[in-house]
Amino acid sequence: MTHKCPFHQSAEINQALLPLEWLLGVWESDEPGEGSFSSIPPFRYNETLHFSHVGQPVINFMFNASHAENKKPMHRECGFIRMQPGTNRVAFIIAQNSGLVEVEEGELSGQCLTLSTLALARTSFAKEPHVDQISRVFQMRPDGKLEQTVSMAMKGGPMMQHLHITYCRSTDPL
Ligand code: HEM
Repeated sequence: MTHKCPFHQSAEINQALLPLEWLLGVWESDEPGEGSFSSIPPFRYNETLHFSHVGQPVINFMFNASHAENKKPMHRECGFIRMQPGTNRVAFIIAQNSGLVEVEEGELSGQCLTLSTLALARTSFAKEPHVDQISRVFQMRPDGKLEQTVSMAMKGGPMMQHLHITYCRSTDPL
């Protein structure tokens, strides 16, 4: 099997990324994802995920969400994924269009990634309420679909689910 980046055809995948190779490529929500939180009305959204690499021991990602009905752009985040060499420790370094920047860390177990906030900062004028803790799970399902579940908590509050969505691998090029 060759391990080429679909975007930079000349870049061989870095050995450090082999455990995460199953994530690479483009994923599109197969049906609208469901958003919720105790303080907001439930909503539905579509999302496209891009995971690529340029031969470094780093995955570059972009997640773009849009309104399920009117298709308007909504939440967007982008960043980098690194693995601690020789371990199953994974770090996501993330910038969100809401003004939040975050480091999430966790573990890779098979094709399941479990992450939670290690550090979080935001612009001085970011919209309230201010989230304090985020956790997410990416799980490759036996049917080949990718599933993402995101929970969050405000300061002192309980963790509650914010998002749940499944994606199919897209045939679109990166
Ligand atoms: C980890 C990523 C995300 C974080 C940390 C986050 C955080 C938040 C927070 C703190 C709120 C405010 C809740 C309140 O007003 O009580 C919120 C609301 C909302 N989020 Fe997210 N969110 C994330 C991802 C997404 C995504 C992918 C979508 C997809 C469209 C989304 C759509 C919404 C909507 C529609 C609302 C309610 C309206 C609004 O306040 O803009 N969020 N989110």
